[in-house]
Amino acid sequence: MNFQEEKGKDPVAISTVPTNTDEPLGKGQDSLTAGVLDPCIFIILGASGDLTSRKLIPALYSLFLNKALPHPFLIVGCSRTVMSDEGFRERMKEALEKAGPLDPSTWPAFARLLHYRTILYDDFPSFKRLADSLKELDKKYKTGGNRIFELAIPPSLYETAARSLGRAGLGIEYENGRGWARIVVEKPFGRDLETALALDKRLHEYFQENQIFRIDHYLAKETVQNILVCRFANSIFEPLWNRNYIDQVSITAAETLGVEHRAGYYEQAGVLRDMFQNHLMQLLALTTMESPTCLDADPVQDEKVKVFRSLRPFPAEDFMDYTVLGQYGRGRIDGKEVPAYREEPGVSPDSLTPTFAMIKVFIDNWRWQGVPFYLTSGKRLARKQTAIVIQFKEIPHSVFRETLEEGISPNRLILGIYPEEKITLTFQTKRPGAHLALLSVNMNFFYYQNYQGHLLEAYEKILLDCLQGDRLLFWRQDGIEACWAFLTPILWICEHCDNRAEMLRFYASGSWGPEALKKLPELID
Ligand code: BG6
Repeated sequence: MNFQEEKGKDPVAISTVPTNTDEPLGKGQDSLTAGVLDPCIFIILGASGDLTSRKLIPALYSLFLNKALPHPFLIVGCSRTVMSDEGFRERMKEALEKAGPLDPSTWPAFARLLHYRTILYDDFPSFKRLADSLKELDKKYKTGGNRIFELAIPPSLYETAARSLGRAGLGIEYENGRGWARIVVEKPFGRDLETALALDKRLHEYFQENQIFRIDHYLAKETVQNILVCRFANSIFEPLWNRNYIDQVSITAAETLGVEHRAGYYEQAGVLRDMFQNHLMQLLALTTMESPTCLDADPVQDEKVKVFRSLRPFPAEDFMDYTVLGQYGRGRIDGKEVPAYREEPGVSPDSLTPTFAMIKVFIDNWRWQGVPFYLTSGKRLARKQTAIVIQFKEIPHSVFRETLEEGISPNRLILGIYPEEKITLTFQTKRPGAHLALLSVNMNFFYYQNYQGHLLEAYEKILLDCLQGDRLLFWRQDGIEACWAFLTPILWICEHCDNRAEMLRFYASGSWGPEALKKLPELID
């Protein structure tokens, strides 16, 4: 990296420019895939739902436009709704038009990939018909017998659908020489340790671990993938990346969105299941894990699991010293009045579901002993911001103590995940002038600076990796279990203890969370 001070500009803003090329990055990069992809059929269970129209079809369409789909390739939508192929195409066209401008010249070719079959998730004969129909499509379109089953259905149907697929011969036994079969599962993977184990048991009756792709869309974000690159492709960070130099770390995912139309799910989940059990745990693992032996899925997962297993169990007796739970009240977001969580459609008027949580966790190993990690997430906060802030220790002795009235701020390395996709290092310099004064400056690297290639949206990356059979950016079951083992006792206290109503602090929408947490903005800015 080449840090350059730009002449005539504010000395506080110093930017990085790539050193190895004058060419815009990404130009001329045609192929998004590492090699030729196997032909296959992508089967969406839950094709009439929200996930299909908001995420899956737009991502597949974008991959299609970028010539990143296998050839031949088909998409077979399945759900309980009775619909023809044409009806499904019309619906998906509307969905794409909603998501952005649709190119009329490319649509007919994409539409030809779309097919539809009606199924009932617990009805074996309808899955048998699906299996026969897939065989016919294989014959007609030469899709090679390979299948990906995406479960875009409510989690309560996962086990039923996996059993129906398995009984129709579309799981492990399918792989006997006919092609491969993969199953894609969306979070939540259970609602506690016990249910996660039950779900896994059912999935494994019909699919092997290497056939199961458990999605966490955070892992597919460019800036999240960059965490390991930043840590392990540079030698300057590693010597400092431990308890000797790091004072504390905060990992924050703040949102302005409320519960939207998802009250049915969110009332059961709350922020701890919705954001902590998955996204925040992954950010924590990427920040703290040891270097894997190589970047293959299993060595990386092994290192993450070691972190999860080293999480210090929560002290039940001092619970409130380690946790802040909150729920949003009325307030203003982007200048508009918004209702309280309890006034949202589908939410109980006396709901105790937390929409905000901050927990302080420790990792009991040599590298991180004694370093607090503050994990925070909340809905209806002042702004959308996801960031990891590594705060280094204060200098041990200040030679400036006589000239400065105040202390010297510790250095910080801020990994901005979204919307500020940048890395910032804060440090002290001398303010130009006759007198000695310090100036705190930021050195910024903007992630997409000078990049002109196609920006892969998280779902595009996920689906692409699944088509390639690359499991690096997915959850492995032992990681899920280790995280549930850590979070389940916390959830139990939040949901069952006698004073759960007193534990919940209300905050105004558009604020930075409960009053008790005045220091949140300070942690993320
Ligand atoms: C999802 C949660 O997994 O992540 C949502 O279910 C949340 O409640 C979303 O809004 C946040 O994702 P992002 O990418 O917008 O930070």
